[in-house]
Amino acid sequence: MAAAATALASPLDPQREAHIDALLARMTLEEKAGQLTLEAPADNAALGNPPAQPSAERADVREQLDHIRAGLVSGLFNGVGVAGKRRAQEAAMASRLQIPLLFAADVIHGFRTIFPVPLGEAASWDPLLAERTARAAAVEAAADGFHWTFAPMVDIARDARWGRGVEGAGEDVLLASRFAAARVRGFQGDGLGRDGNLLATPKHFAAYGAAEGGIDYNTVDLSERTLREVYLPPFKAAVEAGALSVMSAFNEIDGVPATANEALLSGVLRREWGFRGFVVADYTADAELVSHGVAADEREAVRLALQAGTDMALQSGLYRRHLPGLVAAGEVSRAQLDEAVRRVLRVKHALGLFEHPFRGLAPVGSAAAGAASASASASAPAASAAPGVAQPAAGGVDREAHRGLAREVARRSVVLLKNDGDLLPLNRAETRIALVGPFAGGPYELNGPWSLFAQHGRAIPIDQGLREAMADPSRLSVVPGCAIEAPLPGGLEAAVAAARQADVVLLAIGESEAMSGESRSRADITLPRAQMALAEAVADTGKPLVVLLRNGRPLALQGAVREARAILVTWFLGDQTGPALADLLFGEHSPSGRLPVSFPQSPGQVPYAYAHKPTGRPAPAGYPAPDYTARYLDTAHAPLYAFGHGLGYAPVRYEALQLDGGAGSRGEGEARLRWDGTLQVRARVRNAGSRAVDETVQLYVRDRVASVTRPVRELKAFQRVRLAPGQAVDVAFTLRRGDLAFLGRDLKTTVEPGAFDLWVAPSAVAGLQGRFWLEGPGAEAGPGRQEARAP
Ligand code: BGC
Repeated sequence: MAAAATALASPLDPQREAHIDALLARMTLEEKAGQLTLEAPADNAALGNPPAQPSAERADVREQLDHIRAGLVSGLFNGVGVAGKRRAQEAAMASRLQIPLLFAADVIHGFRTIFPVPLGEAASWDPLLAERTARAAAVEAAADGFHWTFAPMVDIARDARWGRGVEGAGEDVLLASRFAAARVRGFQGDGLGRDGNLLATPKHFAAYGAAEGGIDYNTVDLSERTLREVYLPPFKAAVEAGALSVMSAFNEIDGVPATANEALLSGVLRREWGFRGFVVADYTADAELVSHGVAADEREAVRLALQAGTDMALQSGLYRRHLPGLVAAGEVSRAQLDEAVRRVLRVKHALGLFEHPFRGLAPVGSAAAGAASASASASAPAASAAPGVAQPAAGGVDREAHRGLAREVARRSVVLLKNDGDLLPLNRAETRIALVGPFAGGPYELNGPWSLFAQHGRAIPIDQGLREAMADPSRLSVVPGCAIEAPLPGGLEAAVAAARQADVVLLAIGESEAMSGESRSRADITLPRAQMALAEAVADTGKPLVVLLRNGRPLALQGAVREARAILVTWFLGDQTGPALADLLFGEHSPSGRLPVSFPQSPGQVPYAYAHKPTGRPAPAGYPAPDYTARYLDTAHAPLYAFGHGLGYAPVRYEALQLDGGAGSRGEGEARLRWDGTLQVRARVRNAGSRAVDETVQLYVRDRVASVTRPVRELKAFQRVRLAPGQAVDVAFTLRRGDLAFLGRDLKTTVEPGAFDLWVAPSAVAGLQGRFWLEGPGAEAGPGRQEARAP
C-alpha cells in the first residue's frame, strides 16, 4: 500500500511559502478571517443533501456566492454533487486573490459504497483492511469533488452508553492507534496532491469519549496520565501517519474546553508532536465556549479559540464576524491571525488546489473532465492501487467497483460470540429457516449512523442475502415479529408459528441506526423490551436460536438472547449485509472477527475496559467474589464476552509457549529480556477442527511491580494466521524494552526493570501465561529494583 502522505513533514517548499507570504501581504483582515471560515452550502436542502445542523449564520445561495467572491469563505462542507461545488469554485476563482475553496465532508465509513461502521471494521483486527476501505471511500468522494474528510474518528470509547463509540475503533490503545494510522494512510493515499486522495482529520481532539456518564458532549475530567496513556496515542499515531488537519472536540478537559485549550492544541499537538497542519473546531465548538462559561460572549469565544490554536471555525460564522475587529483592537495579534491563515493555505497548496482548483469538478462526460484529470495527473500521478479499490476516475467511480471489498470487509467484521454444539454453519440446501425480528428484511437500518451519502435502497438486507444463497428459497420464512421499540399486532404469534415450522430460528434484533452516533447516548444498553418479548416467545418454542445482533455499541445481553445457542455480532455492515451474513451462516467462510470492545455482564458495569487497574483488593475470577474485594454484589466483575474474543467454525488450541531472550538468558525457569535485547515469544496454534479458520493471536503483558500502578493486561501485539483443518502454525512475537514503557510518577516516559507476566491469547481473559524479567542497563545482577530512564 501507499506510504504515508507526509506532505508537510518534509521541509517547507520555499516557492509555496513565498506565494503564501505574498498572499498574506495582500489580504485584508476580512479575507484572512474568511480563510478561517468553513460553512455548509446554502443550497444543501434544495440539492436534497443531508441537512446541516442548526447554523449560527444562515445565508441564501446568492449571498453565499457573494461571500465567496468577496474572499470571505475558505470552504464548504457536506454539499453533494459536482455542479454546486463547481459553481462555488468558479466564484472563488473570480475573487480578488483567487484562493480556491476546500470541499469537506463527513466521509466516515464509505461515500457511495457503504462499508461497515468503523467499530465493526475494527473487529476485523486488520488495519490494512481499514486502509483499503478508507482508500475506496476517498476515491469515490474525490470523484464527487471533495478534498477533505472529517475522519478518522480516533476517540477511545470505554463507556458503552456513549453513542459515538460506533465511529471509532473501540477501547484499546494499541488497536485504535493502528486503525487510526491505517485510516489516515488510506484517505491520504500516496500524497495529497494526487487524484483520489482526501485530507484526513483525526477527531475529536481530545478525550471526547471520556464524557461523564456516557452523555455526549459531557464534561471530561481525567488525570493527565490517563489522557496521555489512553486517549492521546491514537491521535499521535494519526499525526505521525501524516494527517494534516485535526478537529478539536466539544468537551472540556479538566475545566478547559478543548477548543480553547492551548496546552492541548499548541502544546501537545504542535510543540510536542510537531503537527504542521491546521485545527478546525468541531461544529460551532467555538461559539459553545460561551455555554461552557469560559467566554463572556461570542467575540471573546473567538479570541480564546484562535489564541489556543483553533485555526478554523466550522459553521459558527464567528471568526469572520469577529476576527477583523479583534485584530484591529489589538486583542488578537496580526502574527497570530497570519499564522492560522498560513496553516490553512499550506494545506491548500499541499492539496494542489492552487494549480488545479477544479480538481474532480469537471461535469461528467465532458471534454473538460478528461482535460482536468489529464492535467492534474500530469503533475501528480494517480494513487497506486490497493486490492479491491478502483483507480481514481474523472467524472465518477463505477458503482460496482467496490462491491467485492464491501462484502469482504462486512464478512470480516462479524464476531461469533458463541456457537453451542456447533449449531453453525447451517446447511444451505436442507435447513428450514425462520428469520425473525425487526431487522430481518427491508433495505433500511443497514448502514448505521454517518452514512450521509448512501444511496437509498442499495444495501442488501439479510433476507435477500440468504434467499440468493439458498438452494430452495421457499425454506426461508421471514417475520418481523415486532417493531424496533414496539410490539406489532399479531407479531409474536406469527413469529412463533414460523419458528415452529422451522429447524432453526435466526433472530435479527438489536439497535436502530438512530440509537448510536452523535447525541445518541443510552442509559440502558439492553435490547428494547418489545424485542426481548419476541426473543423469549420464540425461544419458548424450543427451536435452536441464532441471534444476529445489530448494534453500534456493546450491549448487555440478557434472557433468551444471552442463552441463545449462537450469537453473531453484526454491527451495521452496510451495502453487503445480506450476502456477507449468508457467506458466514452457510459456512462459505468462517467468522473471524474479534471484539474491539468488552461486552459487559450488566448495564451497570459500564464504563468497563479489560485494561483496568488491579486495585488493592482485586476480586478473584468467578461469581460471587468474596466480601471486601473490588466486586459487585449482584454480578461478576468480568465481561460477559471479553475484548479480543471471537470464535470461528473450528476450535483452536494454544500450545507450547516459549520465551527466549537469547543465549544464557534463561535463569531459574524465568526468561530474561536484556536492556538492549529482544525477547522472542513463540507459541503454537492448532486448528483442532475440520474447517479452515483465521485466528487472531494476541500478545498481552502485565508489569508486576512498577512505581505507578499498571493495568492487569495490556495488548502489545497481534497477528492473524490462517489455519487449514488440523494445521498447526508457530507464531512468533518480538518484545523490546520500549514495548514496556509507561509514564512514571513525573509523567515522563520510563521503563522499569523487573518482572512481567505475558500471555499469548485468543482474548483478554484467556491464553497461555508466561513470565519474564527485564534486566536493567548493564545488569548482570539478579532481581532487585533498579530505575532506568530513556526507553
Ligand atoms: C460532529 C463531527 C462532524 C461535524 C460536521 C459535528 O457535530 O461532532 O464529528 O464532523 O459535526 O458534520
